[in-house]
Amino acid sequence: MKIALGADHGGYELKKLLETFLPGLGHEVLNLGVDGPEPADYPDYARKVAVAVARKEAARGIVVCGSGVGACVAANKVPGIRAGLCHDTYSARQCVEHDDVNVLCLGGRVVGSELAFEIVKAWLSAKFRSQEERYVRRLNKVLALEKEFLSKP
Ligand code: RB5
Repeated sequence: MKIALGADHGGYELKKLLETFLPGLGHEVLNLGVDGPEPADYPDYARKVAVAVARKEAARGIVVCGSGVGACVAANKVPGIRAGLCHDTYSARQCVEHDDVNVLCLGGRVVGSELAFEIVKAWLSAKFRSQEERYVRRLNKVLALEKEFLSKP
């Protein structure tokens, strides 16, 4: 799977580790920066990752900032993006199976690298349960919400 990967300075160290971890699992990385520890603004990198996923230049995206929260808020502003902040493997698996989350957000200052690797593995192995009516119905309601408020407050 091609994974768009981005981070601000708070997520830079974890992003660096993911750059080698993901190919080790057989995935291709679309590196969207930041590529150094200098201060960077998380919305810029969340935007790059979210846009790459929304435009189907990558199948899924991962954004890392200090807490994961800012990246998640920003990524969710891009239509077509369902970003989830996951710091446990249960949420990482379920957010794909139930919610079809296509961008994973991580807090580089919250989780250690080994837990982050487990979270990423659980998230990447999960598939949306598209045959189950209740999950499709709920996803369609989320999509309708996005459409309803796309151009108005
Ligand atoms: C940067 O200091 C920090 O605010 C950012 O990485 C992130 O945690 C925001 O949610």
